[in-house]
Amino acid sequence: MKPVIALTKGRLEKQFMEFLQERGYDVRPLLNKGRKLQVETDDFFAVFAKGIDVATYVEHGIADIGIVGEDILLECQPDVFDLLPLPFGKCRFAIAGDPTAVNPMRKQRIATKYPNITTKYFRERGKSVDILKLEGSVELAPLLGLADDIVDIVETGSTLKENGLVVKEEMFTLSARCIANRNSLKLKKAILSPLLDSFRIEEAVI
Ligand code: PRP
Repeated sequence: MKPVIALTKGRLEKQFMEFLQERGYDVRPLLNKGRKLQVETDDFFAVFAKGIDVATYVEHGIADIGIVGEDILLECQPDVFDLLPLPFGKCRFAIAGDPTAVNPMRKQRIATKYPNITTKYFRERGKSVDILKLEGSVELAPLLGLADDIVDIVETGSTLKENGLVVKEEMFTLSARCIANRNSLKLKKAILSPLLDSFRIEEAVI
């Protein structure tokens, strides 16, 4: 019996492959998967999904372990065991906008994919703002006048730069996380331990 790992497609996927390779795993089946969403390796079954769905598959025990951005955990609060940070997927949350924009005479409008994180951040600072939820490309909102500023992830800073926006306030940093299903951690310890050992995260939790 092999563990099932749910992997976030996209940027984290590539970085996780490198992380696995550095630990001696044969990642060729994963790299050669084409459009397949399930892949078996010598060591585990991998399923590929969007970040929030990775958390859902782990929460429901379909996957034992998940590799997911911390943004998903903070925004969606899935009922999973958050094991430890991983040494990749490092980025930061920031408030960003047009550097030439003047402060509005009304309540500030913030566009974001992360309404819960944004609400909490401003509430903790005693500031009232209007939050507009978007599903992606949030940098468009201040450019087109839908919002004054955005709250979003900044990794390389290229998206902001190429759209003429700047960071106005750094919020906090984040990284990829390894999460686990609560029951799997108890019931499948024998098959999960080698994998978690190789991630060097076993001592903190098992
Ligand atoms: C994320 C984020 C920014 C961008 C930041 O979006 O929401 O738009 O990456 O990365 P950078 O600082 O390296 O440019 P993503 O690429 O996931 O696409 P989306 O906006 O459609 O969600």
